[in-house]
Amino acid sequence: MKITSAEFIISAVRPDQYPEDALPEIALAGRSNVGKSSLINRMILRKNLARTSSQPGKTQQLNYYKINEQIYFVDFPGYGYAKVSKTEREAWGRMIETFLKVREELKLVLLIVDIRHAPSKDDCLMYDWLKHYEIPICIVVTKADKIPKSKWDKQIKLVKETLQADPTDKVIMFSSELGLGREQLWDYILTETSD
Ligand code: GTP
Ligand code: MG
Repeated sequence: MKITSAEFIISAVRPDQYPEDALPEIALAGRSNVGKSSLINRMILRKNLARTSSQPGKTQQLNYYKINEQIYFVDFPGYGYAKVSKTEREAWGRMIETFLKVREELKLVLLIVDIRHAPSKDDCLMYDWLKHYEIPICIVVTKADKIPKSKWDKQIKLVKETLQADPTDKVIMFSSELGLGREQLWDYILTETSD
């Protein structure tokens, strides 16, 4: 995928702040620090357009990035960070639920998980939430560079089993460090947004 333009548009909290040009949207959900912003940067070949940090819990709004005047990536704030207060967690839940409920432009959610670990309880809740709202899911297993290739299959199996994923769910291996999976993920995104 050739990237001709990529720009940050808005940090939205409420629906009246979502963009109004009706382009298809791909959202990224996952635990704090799992590598959502890094994945966006790798997909658009920019070092630091989506802000990344080694400190978890940094992204608190829905961050919209417009790519090639064609689609939006919507970077969700990560979940599962222990130091977040109950009030903040509840606000997060309301914001995400509203988005999932009302946003017709949302075509696909990339559920990002770390290849080294079984999905968390929060990952499973997110998965169930997406299924409940009948939103198409692509499970992206990232940080693949962190373990030897010989262990990938076992970890993928663990991810699918823990999420109790549908056998038809798409699963893509990814590494933002290496660029692994980039073309495959673009192909999938373009297929899912091309109707
Ligand atoms: P929040 O915005 O806090 O939810 O985090 P995030 O999911 O956006 O994670 P982010 O992209 O900021 O990455 C967190 C850390 O993981 C950073 O130190 C990244 O450099 C590192 N990281 C992300 N993806 C990869 C990867 O594929 N391989 C390796 N080795 N490191 C990665
Ligand atoms: Mg982030």
